[in-house]
Amino acid sequence: MRSAAPVRLGVNIDHVATVRNARGGVHPDPVRAALLAMAAGADGITAHLREDRRHIRDADMARIKAEVALPLNFEMAATDEMVAIALKTQPHACCLVPERREERTTEGGLDAAGQAAELGPKIAILRDAGIRVSLFIAPDLRQIEAAQALSADIVELHTGAWCDHRAAGEAAEAEAEFLRLQAGATLAATLGLEVHAGHGLDYATAEMIAGFEEIAELNIGHFMIGEAIFSGLDAVVQRMRACIAKGRADPRLEHVA
Ligand code: PXP
Repeated sequence: MRSAAPVRLGVNIDHVATVRNARGGVHPDPVRAALLAMAAGADGITAHLREDRRHIRDADMARIKAEVALPLNFEMAATDEMVAIALKTQPHACCLVPERREERTTEGGLDAAGQAAELGPKIAILRDAGIRVSLFIAPDLRQIEAAQALSADIVELHTGAWCDHRAAGEAAEAEAEFLRLQAGATLAATLGLEVHAGHGLDYATAEMIAGFEEIAELNIGHFMIGEAIFSGLDAVVQRMRACIAKGRADPRLEHVA
């Protein structure tokens, strides 16, 4: 057992909006889900306003900010339109994510190194407005160094490849990716960046990754919203919190694949 600071749980509510939009109405309401998640113990709400508005819409973002008393992590592409909306919304943090193929690294995260000239001014505008800036990147040492050079406050390490390899039973690849995540978290913390992680996490993988003492926050959506169909969102948030707390207190970093 050890006592590192607790890992914050950010609940991503995008997929509540996906279900709502499937019928074009107002039910289920993502803001209601955010309020439920808050009541169940979530530490933050994450929502992605995509350029195509495929799930979360502008009005959802404004309502989350107005009605939910938790830090809002506003996921967005680094476009002028999104920067303007973020400045109006004033979220706690903006997490810059790739939406177009050419903005991604081969691993799927934002190409912070290759896109530095485009990202730099946008990061500066957001930070000048008092918004913390997070970059969603692969656990690639070059990308992490680029995030620091761009004055990002936070890196969110992309756990999707690790989770995919585990799900496919590809033990060697999963192990290699886990080691990359571990090395990435260590480098980012050494460079003074706050370290978050997310994408594809479930109870087991969240518990494992919470064992990295550098990790301050996990952002989790798809699994939790899907699992809420069976167990209810409040029970899912509570169980996820318990898994994360267990992983943090008693890391089992040897069973990664
Ligand atoms: N973090 C970021 C930056 C994301 O883009 C997403 C997916 O929207 C998540 C975390 C959550 O991923 P998942 O829905 O697979 O849990």
